[in-house]
Amino acid sequence: MKAYRAAILRFDPDLPPNTAAIYESDGLLVVGPDATGRQVVLAVGAYPALKDQWSHVQVTHWPERIIAPGFVDMHIHYPQTNVIGSPAEGLLPWLENYTFPEEIRFESLDYSADSARFFIAELLRNGVTTALAFATSHATSVQALFEAAQARQMRMITGLCLMDRHAPAELLNRANSGSERDATEQSLIDTETLIQQWHGKDRLGYAITPRFAPTSTDAQLHGAGELAARYSDVWIQSHVAENKEEIAWARELFPASRSYLATYDDFGLMRERAIYAHCIHFDDDDRALMRDTGTAAAVSPTSNLFLGSGFFDYAGADRVGFAYGLASDVGGGTSFSPFHTMLAAYYVGREGQTKQGLSLSPQHLWWQHTLGAAKALGLDGGRDVAAIGNLQVGCEADFVVLNPKATPLLARRTAQASSLDELLFSMIVLGDDRLIEKTVISQVN
Ligand code: GUN
Ligand code: ZN
Repeated sequence: MKAYRAAILRFDPDLPPNTAAIYESDGLLVVGPDATGRQVVLAVGAYPALKDQWSHVQVTHWPERIIAPGFVDMHIHYPQTNVIGSPAEGLLPWLENYTFPEEIRFESLDYSADSARFFIAELLRNGVTTALAFATSHATSVQALFEAAQARQMRMITGLCLMDRHAPAELLNRANSGSERDATEQSLIDTETLIQQWHGKDRLGYAITPRFAPTSTDAQLHGAGELAARYSDVWIQSHVAENKEEIAWARELFPASRSYLATYDDFGLMRERAIYAHCIHFDDDDRALMRDTGTAAAVSPTSNLFLGSGFFDYAGADRVGFAYGLASDVGGGTSFSPFHTMLAAYYVGREGQTKQGLSLSPQHLWWQHTLGAAKALGLDGGRDVAAIGNLQVGCEADFVVLNPKATPLLARRTAQASSLDELLFSMIVLGDDRLIEKTVISQVN
């Protein structure tokens, strides 16, 4: 067992996002193994109230620091680390000119392994302790990411990118040489093999990963839906309704579906643990479909601003009531830092405010990148699954140690904060990787 004394920020899963934050200016966090050997929070609260009960545990004291839940990134592409900051008119030319050429390089296991190690280190440096990540269409890239995450005991969900048309030949899923099977069948077999090899191993999870409807045939989407039905606790990840040209293309290719989003439902790809990135250009029927199927949105504001894709409609999502959380979407997104993502989300909420009277509070923004994202991923402790992102008792002990004096300006501004919302806001606006002094990962014994 270990105990840490510092200020502590945590989130109450039973409260609405605007008021879910709990802050102890002098707190104690006690961490130790649960029945399965995983390090979880055993006690958390005010130091004066807990110190006698836990006096047998050695306490590490971090004065003037804040312990907070590790951040959860709901959508990121590890093979796009080198693509950040590649300008393009919009999504489709960006994919063609920058992203696809870089992803082709992940056929190499060495290239994949080196990129995966860098990627994991960069996530941790930025305080991200759980990610739902895209790999490429090469099984080598998936193996490399799982292995790199496993070596750091990190909670990582990824899967083989399914694409059997409309991309460079080197990126399409391939049949094995001399095999009777075609590439589509092989991609589904490879997916199932990887599920069996990795899903539920240590802290790793598998996501069935059709890139987006336009790069899959009907047969591939149908097969992915069958796997999603058979393996009901694996995740599904894809993209939807990000960009006007992309939507027109998807509608042309799948005209029988009611909408682009409904295409995925028609193939059995909407359910709990299905996460769709972007979800910008929706109507209320799409929103209701998200809600009714338990599907969640990964909101990616830096990417949407960078690629000129549009603005996620927070008011629409809350009015109809579907789950969402925040994501960097690197490399369409511009930063690994959750602070940059939360600030971009705030700007997007302001855009909504002029239209709908909405302003996202700092607690709500922080919640979207921790507990809200955990809930959207189905990792909030219900039905005997692991809980992450809240630092309440029983939650896995992934946390960050923030230094609110990390820069002269942060020190000056945070010292002026007269409420929790002001403190959180000053860190959201001024924060980056320098604010993360330490990232601690829950270990499995
Ligand atoms: N749609 C299909 N593939 C991608 C991708 O790699 N990034 C983004 N932002 N959108 C996509
Ligand atoms: Zn993406």
